[in-house]
Amino acid sequence: MDRQYTLAVIGVGRPRGSDGATGFGMAHDHVKGFLSTGRCSLTAVADISRDNAELFADAYGGPRLYEDYFSMLRTEKPDIVSICTWPGLHAPMTLAAIDAGVRAVHCEKPMAPIWGEARRMHEAAVASGVQLTFNHQRRFLDPFQKARACLKEGRIGQLVRMEAECADLFDWGTHWLDMFHYFNDEIPAEWVLGQIDAREVRTIFGVPLEQQGLCCIKFANGVRATLMTGYEMNIGCAIRLIGSSGVVEIGWGQPELVLRHDGAWGPVTIPVQEGIHDHAAHGRVAADIVHCLDTGDRPLLSSYNAVRSTEIIFATYESSRRRGRIDLPLNVDGSGLQDMLAAGDIGPGEPRAA
Ligand SMILES: NC(=O)c1ccc[n+]([C@@H]2O[C@H](COP(=O)([O-])OP(=O)(O)OC[C@H]3O[C@@H](n4cnc5c(N)ncnc54)[C@H](O)[C@@H]3O)[C@@H](O)[C@H]2O)c1
Repeated sequence: MDRQYTLAVIGVGRPRGSDGATGFGMAHDHVKGFLSTGRCSLTAVADISRDNAELFADAYGGPRLYEDYFSMLRTEKPDIVSICTWPGLHAPMTLAAIDAGVRAVHCEKPMAPIWGEARRMHEAAVASGVQLTFNHQRRFLDPFQKARACLKEGRIGQLVRMEAECADLFDWGTHWLDMFHYFNDEIPAEWVLGQIDAREVRTIFGVPLEQQGLCCIKFANGVRATLMTGYEMNIGCAIRLIGSSGVVEIGWGQPELVLRHDGAWGPVTIPVQEGIHDHAAHGRVAADIVHCLDTGDRPLLSSYNAVRSTEIIFATYESSRRRGRIDLPLNVDGSGLQDMLAAGDIGPGEPRAA
């Protein structure tokens, strides 16, 4: 019989839009995903909100409840820990789970609000042999897999450049930067040139964001990419892959791809089975995590992949701070955006003269 894994969750939340919700309640998606594998039993949850924890426990079979996650990790010694708190807590919680001797940590994205914390989580997992993943779940959805298949089947020739747009670099951008690596075979970036505008600072999950951003990347295989963020940015789709003989676009709305290539008079639409936010991803993520625990293979959402896209977020901030190109690896631990806000170099009001 296949081995069963014990699962514990830190930060359960409430489903988005429900009474008392403070966010999306991503833990619900994680747990449904893990339970759907038939290989995991939810044994414990830790949350500082007793109400949230009790509601969660009622919905998923009565796991033991803790307010202190250290105590849960020490007492329960779970095989898998799912971390669904806001980004500022990801690093301390992940490092504590690794110290407690768990076998796998599946943490929500973005990795952390500063680069040094993100890097240290990855390094600690590698050093201890813990399987660490971040929830860039869209790799498991049909639109992205079909777009990648178009590329791999040569329908747009060789990949030349990629473009993407979204709300911000940190919270949404982490998904699209992850996608750039997915489409470009995980090839690392060589340099990043970026700019951000933060005249009206917004925060999400406690982390400040730019108002608009621009990030240009050169990958080691020569492929270039541009991510544009913020309310004024518009590239006409979510992600565009530009090949030597055609283009494929993933839209924000209709579940379809648009393919333009040499052999056709006009655009061709390719139907896809799922939208780009489909919850079906979470069961596939969990199945891959469990499969890789069985086999020792590297999961598709491994920190080896996440750390590359995260480095680009902070390299973009740092490029804006230094007014220059950042050759990777990035050699500062913090967040250029947060440093510039603290110094008053960017922020509400007129941009300062250089
Ligand atoms: N992958 C995606 O598509 C996606 C979508 C939305 C959100 N997210 C990410 O998921 C993460 C969680 O967001 P959410 O919307 O699920 O949050 P949420 O606000 O719904 O839930 C967070 C929970 O953490 C608990 N918590 C806070 N401090 C704690 C502590 N010290 N110990 C234990 N529990 C604690 C809160 O009480 C709350 O129950 C964020 O990083 C967010 O960016 C990812």
